[in-house]
Amino acid sequence: MAADVPPQGSGSDAGRPSGAGRDGARRALVTGATAGIGAAFARRLAADGYDLLLVARDGERLAEAAAELIARHGNRVDVLPADLATDEGCGLVEARLADASAPVDMLVNSAGISLNRSFVRSTVADESRLLRLNVHAVLRLTLAALPGMTERRHGAVINVSSVAGFGPVMPGSTYPASKAWVTNFSESVAQSVRPMGVRVLALCPGYTRTEFHDRAGINMTKTPEWLWLRADDVVRDALRDLDRDRMVSVPDWKYKVAVFGLRHAPGRVWRAVAKDARGRTGRGEL
Ligand SMILES: NC(=O)c1ccc[n+]([C@@H]2O[C@H](COP(=O)([O-])OP(=O)(O)OC[C@H]3O[C@@H](n4cnc5c(N)ncnc54)[C@H](OP(=O)(O)O)[C@@H]3O)[C@@H](O)[C@H]2O)c1
Repeated sequence: MAADVPPQGSGSDAGRPSGAGRDGARRALVTGATAGIGAAFARRLAADGYDLLLVARDGERLAEAAAELIARHGNRVDVLPADLATDEGCGLVEARLADASAPVDMLVNSAGISLNRSFVRSTVADESRLLRLNVHAVLRLTLAALPGMTERRHGAVINVSSVAGFGPVMPGSTYPASKAWVTNFSESVAQSVRPMGVRVLALCPGYTRTEFHDRAGINMTKTPEWLWLRADDVVRDALRDLDRDRMVSVPDWKYKVAVFGLRHAPGRVWRAVAKDARGRTGRGEL
C-alpha cells in the first residue's frame, strides 16, 4: 500500500512519565504495530506512559489500533501507514525519526516476514522483498534514529530478530540469514552507541502466537503447544533485558537452552536436530 497518508494524532497530554524529553513526552515508534509482537509492544509501551507512533501498511487497521490505545490509556497515538519494503515507505518513517522537534526515545523494528517455499523454487522478487523489509528497513530506521539519540545521550532501539538467526535449523535460506544479520548488526551497533548513553537490543523470540505463520501460509498444526510463546511475555522479557543493559534477549528458558546449544554444539549435531525439528514442527520458521 502506498505510504501517502499523513500522520494523524490524538490523545491527551496527561500523565507524562518521568525521564521525559524537553516537551514532557516520551515517544516510541513501533513498526509492525498492528499485529503480533509489534502490537504487544504498542500495548505495553502505552501502558508505560509512552506516546506512540504506529507503523504498518494497513491504514484502517492502524487507525483502529490507535483508537483502542487512546481509549484505554489516553496517550497521544499517531499512525504512519508505510510499506517498509519500499524506499518511499522507509523514507517517510526516516523523516519522522529524524524530526528533532518531537524526538523519538524508543524505536522498535518489529515488522518482518517469512516465505513458505524452498529457496530453489523462489523468485528474486520475493527474496528481495523479504530482505528489504527484514534487513534494509531495519538498517535504515536504526540509522535514522541513532544520530538524534546519541546527541541527546538517551534512547533505545529494539530490533526484533529470531532464534532462527543463530543457525539454519529451520528451512528457508533467506529468513534465518536475514535474522542472523539483525542480531549481529544490533549487537555491533549496541557496543558502539553504549558509551553515548543509547541502548540497542536484538530480541530473538522462538515460536510466538501471532499472524506471522498464517500470513506466510506455513502450516504449524504439528508444532507442539509447549513450544509456543505469548507475544506479551516476549515483550515483557525484552524490556526487562533492555533494563538490564543486555544486547541480546532470548525470551523463555527453553529457547535460551536451544540458543546455547546452537551457539556451542558442533555443526553435525545441530544439523541432525534440524532434520528432526523439521519433521516435528511441520517446516515452520520462527
Ligand atoms: N511469530 C513468531 O513465531 C516469530 C518468531 C521469531 C521472530 N519473529 C519476528 O517477529 C517480528 C514480528 O512478527 P509477528 O510474529 O509479530 O508478525 P505478524 O503478527 O505477522 O505482524 C506483522 C506486522 O508487520 C506489519 N508489516 C508486514 N509487512 C510490512 C511492510 N512491508 N511494511 C510495514 N509493515 C509491515 C503488519 O501489518 P501490515 O500487514 O498492515 O503491514 C503487522 O503489523 C518479525 O520480524 C518476525 O520475523 C516472529
